[in-house]
Amino acid sequence: MRITSGTVLVGGMALSNHLLLAAGVLGTTGSSLARILACGAGGVVTKSIGPYPCEGHPGPCVVETEGGLLNAMGLPNPSREFEGELQVLAGKPVILSIYGGNPDEFRTVASWFAGTAAAFELNLSCPHAAGYGAALGTDPDLVEACTQAVSSLGLPTWVKLTPNVTDITLCGKAAERGGASALVAINTVKAMRISTELKRPVLGNRVGGLSGKSIFPVAVRCVYELYESCRIPIIGCGGISSAGDVIEMMMAGASAVQIGTAVKDYPCIFRSIATDLYSSDGVPPDTIVGCAHG
Ligand SMILES: Cc1cc2nc3c(=O)[nH]c(=O)nc-3n(C[C@H](O)[C@H](O)[C@H](O)COP(=O)(O)O)c2cc1C
Repeated sequence: MRITSGTVLVGGMALSNHLLLAAGVLGTTGSSLARILACGAGGVVTKSIGPYPCEGHPGPCVVETEGGLLNAMGLPNPSREFEGELQVLAGKPVILSIYGGNPDEFRTVASWFAGTAAAFELNLSCPHAAGYGAALGTDPDLVEACTQAVSSLGLPTWVKLTPNVTDITLCGKAAERGGASALVAINTVKAMRISTELKRPVLGNRVGGLSGKSIFPVAVRCVYELYESCRIPIIGCGGISSAGDVIEMMMAGASAVQIGTAVKDYPCIFRSIATDLYSSDGVPPDTIVGCAHG
């Protein structure tokens, strides 16, 4: 199946197609973000930026697994200094991923970038950063408070959710109450591997997050559940690497998608997926979003 192309209006943004770069994968500098846009992405999400500069976890930080990647980067970022990277991207569809340890920190970081970012994506979902990400994002009250702290600044506010909860819809509904413009589902699945030679966990942080093809069914399930419970648009993320995956995500309820791990080996995957996804005699995208329900 193919869909028609055209401007995609989602979560307060106008994108040239349905395909965005997911946070943290090649989105660490202005030039890498510009390169991904030049490779056909309809929008890009930056590396998550926090209230203080952070070096991240000790290595190994990323290891390959069957059908995916296991990472525990630990949110390395230059904090406010990242402003310099965004100058070359003025006017482009750049969504700034931010994190904080409480609603005030989220608001502070967002306010630094309110003049440069087109939208914010709240990282309430990283599974391997003590005191950040999923540490807040598994508590619906904190999800609502952090969302409210940023959405009240008046820019589109996307909230990225963790799959590492019993019921993801509780956090989705909390973000909606806090004024979110869209939900992003999902961040990585909490996971680990052990080196049988070293008799130790392979990651420096011991526990990390699994991404890539192996988590696609988890992501589809999360998007499907959120679509049944929430009204704001959902951006599907997790294991997407083909036009068929994009169609399936849209049928589950996604209005657009983000791609992370698949970009690592092939930055121009956006263009090749778009070639397979769009056709002038395709079906209108709106007719397939959520069509697997009912
Ligand atoms: C190396 C790496 C770094 C990541 N860094 C971030 C990050 O800074 N902020 C965030 O919200 N998600 C981060 N993620 C999660 C991705 O944005 C995405 O949610 C996840 O990898 C699932 O999508 P995928 O299977 O297409 O990679 C990272 C993922 C990887 C593999």
